[in-house]
Amino acid sequence: MMPAVGQRVPASADIRAVEAPVYALSNVSKTYGRGSIRALDHVDLHLDRGSFSSVIGPSGCGKSTLLKIMAGLTPPSSGSVILNGRPVTGPRRDIGMMFQQATLFPWRTTLENILLPIEIRDGAAAAKAKAPSARALLDLVGLKGFADIYPDKLSGGMAQRAAICRMLVTEPDVLLLDEPFSALDELSRDFMNMELQRICLETRATAFLITHSIPEAVILSDVVYVMSRRPGRFVETIPIDLPRPRTLDMLTEPRLGEHVRHIRALLDEGGVH
Ligand SMILES: Nc1ncnc2c1ncn2[C@@H]1O[C@H](COP(=O)(O)OP(=O)(O)OP(=O)(O)O)[C@@H](O)[C@H]1O
Ligand SMILES: [Mg+2]
Repeated sequence: MMPAVGQRVPASADIRAVEAPVYALSNVSKTYGRGSIRALDHVDLHLDRGSFSSVIGPSGCGKSTLLKIMAGLTPPSSGSVILNGRPVTGPRRDIGMMFQQATLFPWRTTLENILLPIEIRDGAAAAKAKAPSARALLDLVGLKGFADIYPDKLSGGMAQRAAICRMLVTEPDVLLLDEPFSALDELSRDFMNMELQRICLETRATAFLITHSIPEAVILSDVVYVMSRRPGRFVETIPIDLPRPRTLDMLTEPRLGEHVRHIRALLDEGGVH
């Protein structure tokens, strides 16, 4: 039976939870500035393999901090972060990340930009060997024919698609996404979100997305985590019971609207707007 909107259902109720979680964060807290800024407060998070989760919360509540901790870019002040059964103590091969800006180097072609992480990590020969899969990824995101041109000839959406390829070329298990499409216009953003869903379904990647858009969080996610004001903690975990693949038409479905209203009310309760 479908749970009512807003009913608290642990993510472990999901059928995929029979597998060990990809990510297991326990009691993660983070303070900056010798303890004067408490950014995160006792965060627990379990992500199932192949799931798509989003986190939504007010500006400055600790979302990017959480993502950086998950990525091994900054250590938690306390608590543990386990990915694929191993503690995260630094950047890892099984993690892919994407930020608000594509940050492509203008003096490298699209293909060379995509291969850069491999070149840095494993050398030029390894990068060259990966070129065919990088080209296949460019096809996947609709950038066939743009491999050998320079980023100044790409639109913002195309640059973000190249950034998706750069994230995927290392074949990460998990995709950590910090507002990756927020700089795009609404049409491009909708399109990129559907692309992201398609890629996740095709690659079985586990995705964790930070967003400020409630409809975006709902349409993309299996689970939406709502965060409180700083110090950030999860105030509610909301399973989204819409079928997959999701389509943009669903944005007008009453069930989606109920979820959006529920999340907005939670954010308003926290006085976050
Ligand atoms: N390196 C840092 N040193 C000191 N304080 C920091 C650092 N990074 C973040 N903070 C502080 O921690 C808090 C959380 O920041 P964070 O970037 O995680 O927020 P956020 O939820 O991602 O915000 P936004 O939605 O605006 O991107 C903020 O008060 C911020 O000022
Ligand atoms: Mg942020």
